[in-house]
Amino acid sequence: MAGKVANNFGSFQVTFVKGKGVYLTDTNGKKYIDFVSGIGVNCLGHNRPSLVKALKKQVQKEIHISNYYLSDVGLEFADKLLAVTKMEKAFFGNSGAEANEAAIKLARKYGWMQNPKKQTIVTLEKSFHGRTVATLKATGQEKFHPACFEPFPEGFKYIKANDYEALKTAFDDSVCALMMECVQGEGGVNIIDADWAKKAAEAARACGAIVIADEVQTGIGRTGTFLASEQLGIEPEVVTLAKGIAGGVPMGACLYRGKASEVFVAGDHQSTFGGNPLACAGGLAVLSELTSDGFLKNVQETGEYIRNTIRSWNLPCVKEVRGKGLMIGIDITQSAGEVQKKCLENGLCISTAGPNTSRFLPPLILTKKEADAGLAIYKSVLESTK
Ligand SMILES: Cc1ncc(COP(=O)(O)O)c(C=O)c1O
Repeated sequence: MAGKVANNFGSFQVTFVKGKGVYLTDTNGKKYIDFVSGIGVNCLGHNRPSLVKALKKQVQKEIHISNYYLSDVGLEFADKLLAVTKMEKAFFGNSGAEANEAAIKLARKYGWMQNPKKQTIVTLEKSFHGRTVATLKATGQEKFHPACFEPFPEGFKYIKANDYEALKTAFDDSVCALMMECVQGEGGVNIIDADWAKKAAEAARACGAIVIADEVQTGIGRTGTFLASEQLGIEPEVVTLAKGIAGGVPMGACLYRGKASEVFVAGDHQSTFGGNPLACAGGLAVLSELTSDGFLKNVQETGEYIRNTIRSWNLPCVKEVRGKGLMIGIDITQSAGEVQKKCLENGLCISTAGPNTSRFLPPLILTKKEADAGLAIYKSVLESTK
């Protein structure tokens, strides 16, 4: 029952009333294993005591104060987040698209300060950067640029990921930034080769451009390291984050360092709700858990365990299993949408990343035992779906 909520995803089939750990419960009391975690958001699962406690405490102190002023919790969160990510400054917004809008504005001004014609941002084919007008255009997939939303902003150029030839011609004096996901999420859970990424970053910097890592989906431990760019070794000047950053409280962040730190001045960019104390309190609880001993190791090991288990089934319908940490894509011969629907009927929430790709983004606290319970449902659905 969608009621009066806009059904823009076109997929309401159940109404959930509560969650605990990696499980969700619907209005009929039926339990589901959650391999979606609110599209990669609920990194600590549902109803995590540390997060609930931190949020409750903050609600009693203050929820929102605006960016006219600083908050103690905001300062503490910025300090700790910047220390973990080795970045220098943090702009806080409310979503991934908003974080990327900040990065796009920063890159454009950075280019303009060198030469007013230095405005082009190179992004990758099959990328996804958000659903605002500029981030849609930054997205390297034609289906996200339909005529009904024109005119789109200019100044984006797309290159094929992992294509060394493309690097020879993509970068010139008109380019102010290379913007890329480290594993492409919505575009199919596509792995970006580390050597190629390093060469792409070198080519960008050689023409005076900066590197923006869109870690909205890959960041906050999703791929087994705090940032996925650590695994690529590209040392981006700008990193964007959202999704898991505050454990489910809406928040986005655009972090920057080095040359990129000298770009924004007061008045260049702002957001009413951005970085409000409630979100920052959630962020601190997430940081404390993610940086605790063994947390990211569990993400790496459980992710690898899931990929190996699916491969070990040797099912002819499974064409490829890939991913990093707990960001997993499975190419199948069946319709991924049909498999997703049947999994839900059988008590497993999964997502898709393209017509024939199932995607798992479970809470990062998932254990192997819980993974097994979800995988048993997934396997039986695959076997019973033509
Ligand atoms: C890589 C990436 N960038 C940006 C976005 C947009 O984030 P949001 O939906 O929070 O605006 C997403 C969302 O899936 C994403 O995966």
